[in-house]
Formats: sequence, C-alpha cells, structure tokens
Amino acid sequence: MTARKKVLVFRELPDDQLARLEAAHDVKVANPKLPTQRDAFHAALAEVQGMIGSSYPVDAALLVAAPKLEVISSVSVGVDNYALDALQARGIMLCHTPGVLDETVADTVFALLMATSRRVVELANLVREGRWDKNIGEDLFGFDVHGKTLGLLGFGRIGQAIARRAALGFGMPVRYHARRPVDLATQAPELQGKALHTALDAMLAESDFVVAMLPLSASTRGMIDADLFAQMKPGAIFINGGRGATVNEDDLLAALDSGQLLAAGLDVFAKEPLPMASALRTHPRVTPLPHIGSATHETRHAMAELATTNLLRALAGERPAAVYDTAAV
Ligand code: DGY
Repeated sequence: MTARKKVLVFRELPDDQLARLEAAHDVKVANPKLPTQRDAFHAALAEVQGMIGSSYPVDAALLVAAPKLEVISSVSVGVDNYALDALQARGIMLCHTPGVLDETVADTVFALLMATSRRVVELANLVREGRWDKNIGEDLFGFDVHGKTLGLLGFGRIGQAIARRAALGFGMPVRYHARRPVDLATQAPELQGKALHTALDAMLAESDFVVAMLPLSASTRGMIDADLFAQMKPGAIFINGGRGATVNEDDLLAALDSGQLLAAGLDVFAKEPLPMASALRTHPRVTPLPHIGSATHETRHAMAELATTNLLRALAGERPAAVYDTAAV
C-alpha cells in the first residue's frame, strides 16, 4: 500500500473524485482564486507532494514555495498556465486530460460557427426585446454553413473532431494548416480526401470559416495578427476555441471594423474573465463565450476523473496515462 501523501486540490473537484483522493492521501482543498482560501493555499505549498486543479498560474515562484512537490495533475488539456521549464528542471511530473474533451470542445466550436453565421444570439435578442414586429428581411439574413470551406489552424484531436462534423455532417471541404500533415489513413481514415493539409496562405485565402485551435506557446503567442487577418477571404468568419493569447485582439477588432471579417466567435480571450473594458465584449459582430469549450456535466466529470486517476497513479509510483512531456517545450 502506498504511503499517504499530502495533496493540494486547488480547484473544486466533484465529490466522488475528492473521495477517491481522500481515501488514499491527506487532502487539503484550497482555491487560491477565492480570497478566503488564498492563505490556506499558500500555507499548504510547503508540504505538498501532489497538486490537482486547473486555470491558475503555477509559476516558478510558486514552485519554489513547494519544495516537496512530485506531481501536478491538471484538470485541463492545455498546460500554458504552468512554468514548464521549471517543472522540467525540478523533475516534477505534469499530467493533463487529453482525449476526453475533444468531442465536447468540437461541439462548442460548431455552436459558434452556427451562431455567428446565422446570427443566432442577435436574432434571439430581437425576439426577446419585442422587436420581432414583421417578417425579417435581407438585412437580418445570415449565411449558410453547409458546403462552405472550413480552414483549421491546428489539427490535433480536437481539430479533427471539428473536421469530422464539418466534412461528414455539413458537407464542408476542410483545409488544415499544421506543422506536419497528419497521416489520415491511420489517424482519421474517415477524413481521407476530405481534409487537406494546406499552406497557411492558401488555407486562409480559401476558407469561409477560419477556426483557430492552437495551444499557447512562445511560437503561437500573438500569431493571429493583422497580417493573417489580411490574408483571409474578405467576409470570412473567425472562430477561436484554442487560447485567447494566440490572437492579437486589437488586430482582430480592426479586421472586424474594416469589414475584412464578417464576424468572430470567441470562447477564449487573452485575459479571462474578459475585462469589462474590452471592446470584444459588446462588439455587435462578436459572439463571446466565457471559455465553455469543455464545460458540460459529462465532460468536466470525465476530465476530473482522468486527472484524479493520473494523480493517484503518479503518487503510487506508476506511470499515469496522460503525462505531458515538459521537455518538449
Ligand atoms: C482545456 O482543457 O485546456 C480547456 O481549455 C478547458 O479549460
């Protein structure tokens, strides 16, 4: 039997997963984002061997305060909030939750595609506000989604789930740009001949919808800028379901205001929660969502379960299923 270790839960876990941890280890729950729990979180760091949570910057200074830390289990697939080089230098294992959220995030991205092109939120508000006083005319028509070309920036598991919806469900030709072409024959045979690896400039120029699903790293930060927006088809719709800071938000606003982009659907922002002062919050052609990509009951539970299993395995000296390769930074 594994010796009990000290575990810090830094974002609430479902009761059944917390119970699994408590059965094996001494668990402290303290969310540093809550003023009432912040001191307890920092006090616990000195002794913890395992941490589990998400959406909090675990930077180099925080790691210094946790000298006994062996493993962090993130309840997320993205790991941009962790000081990866410091984790690598200290030999601290980082686990995450790939695979279990792909279909749900793809659903969210498709909701944004549909909402922006068919003006769903704007027209629902028209009804709600009592402004539906005649048959709607051309000024309120949207654009078709089916049959249009979808361009994907990033073609990992989630990108492929989006491509399946587009190609198989909506008859959309799919172009994707990724560092390397994906071997569809082995990874996604159903997309063979339907999703084409395409040079960035051609993909941007040909796509009616450009969907960004990029992780945040030094090479992708601010990558989607005025230059890329200018290369998009005039009147294209831009969707971001990856990370907000991959986009230069001032350039995005300029592209919307100039008419280069018809609309944007955004689940992620450079700063979250989105500041009140951000023009993206109220822009009439932006559909903003509060980072709900994976936020369904089923998927958030599956993520918590995988993250808990990862942590229990790591603390037992076993290899967890989903270890992030911090050396690949
Ligand atoms: C992730 O898992 O990285 C998603 O963005 C949800 O936070």
